[in-house]
Amino acid sequence: MGIWFSLVAVAALILLGLLGANVSGLNYIFAVVIPYIAITLFIVGSIVRIVRWARSPVPFRIPTTGGQQKSLSFIKQNRLDNPSSYLGVLGRMALEVLFFRSLFRNTKAELKEGPILTYGANKWLWMFSLAFHWSFLIIFLRHFRFFTQPIPFFVPFLQDIDGFFQIWVPLIYMTNAVILAALTYLFFRRVFDSKIRYISLPSDYFPLLLIAGIAITGILMRYFFKTDLVAVKELMLGILSFAPSAPSEGLSLWFYLHLFFVCSLLIYFPMSKLVHMSGIFMSPTRNLANTNRMRRHVNPWIDELKMKPHTYEEYEDEFRKVMKGAGMPLDKEESHVS
Ligand code: HEM
Repeated sequence: MGIWFSLVAVAALILLGLLGANVSGLNYIFAVVIPYIAITLFIVGSIVRIVRWARSPVPFRIPTTGGQQKSLSFIKQNRLDNPSSYLGVLGRMALEVLFFRSLFRNTKAELKEGPILTYGANKWLWMFSLAFHWSFLIIFLRHFRFFTQPIPFFVPFLQDIDGFFQIWVPLIYMTNAVILAALTYLFFRRVFDSKIRYISLPSDYFPLLLIAGIAITGILMRYFFKTDLVAVKELMLGILSFAPSAPSEGLSLWFYLHLFFVCSLLIYFPMSKLVHMSGIFMSPTRNLANTNRMRRHVNPWIDELKMKPHTYEEYEDEFRKVMKGAGMPLDKEESHVS
């Protein structure tokens, strides 16, 4: 169901993009107006999400304990998995953002004959996710040749590395093959694994298909159906310098589709799971050092909210009978209560 919904949504976007490319009166709207709307919604939407996260109370540390916390001197602390300093937090965050460390440690559960529940390594997901994200980033950074004049120093550098194998004219970029392979894996993993299909929603399939649409139209444009790259750059520089010019005739249908997909992604981004890109930095389980035992953490809003502390003793007094009835261990038996 989710797959079909997403396929129909992407098909609708293709039809709209084709309309924008073929109806001359709509060219300006699709090449200029929609990109402005998309950039604005992306920026405003992302800021709203970040401000909302930043405003949610985090009164105490939430350590996800992947290792031993700082304790007595003779117990070895795991400084990266359970950091007690901000340097450690920086290390944990860097490993998470750059290498998806928690995904690397992810396991998958399978029911084997017996039935026996087994837990095994799941490195394919980690490998393809990492390959996808790195390819996306490199492709995006290479695109700066369309967005800035002069071209930033890292663009030729990335182009050289990415086109290292020097196959075909124009040179085939490794990232183009990798992103397609990774997207194929990530999509079919959801389609063919019944457990994952069961928990997958349209919001899981749609972004994969949309990004595949961007990659495929880009690849078609680079290797098979040429578009006027000077016209593309003129258009982009015009938009980014707030002096947009009318789109040139040289812009191909594939370019309109590519750009429309990118705009759809920008608009969809802040309201979708894709905001994990900024969310990871705001995640209390990642960005807080575990100082729970070293420092006393007092809820800073306790006076403001006129919250009366409710101690465990009081809690037990309140629920002693029920707890006893349920056979739960008690600190004080009824007869000892003064
Ligand atoms: C989410 C952002 C984007 C992604 C993931 C993306 C992806 C791609 C990919 C995979 C290619 C194939 C060739 C290559 O890797 O360089 C490509 C080509 C291309 N993209 Fe994008 N693109 C994005 C944004 C844009 C934008 C905003 C523009 C508007 C200027 C654009 C214009 C082009 C053009 C003109 C080509 C053909 C390049 C050539 O012929 O060498 N792309 N894109």
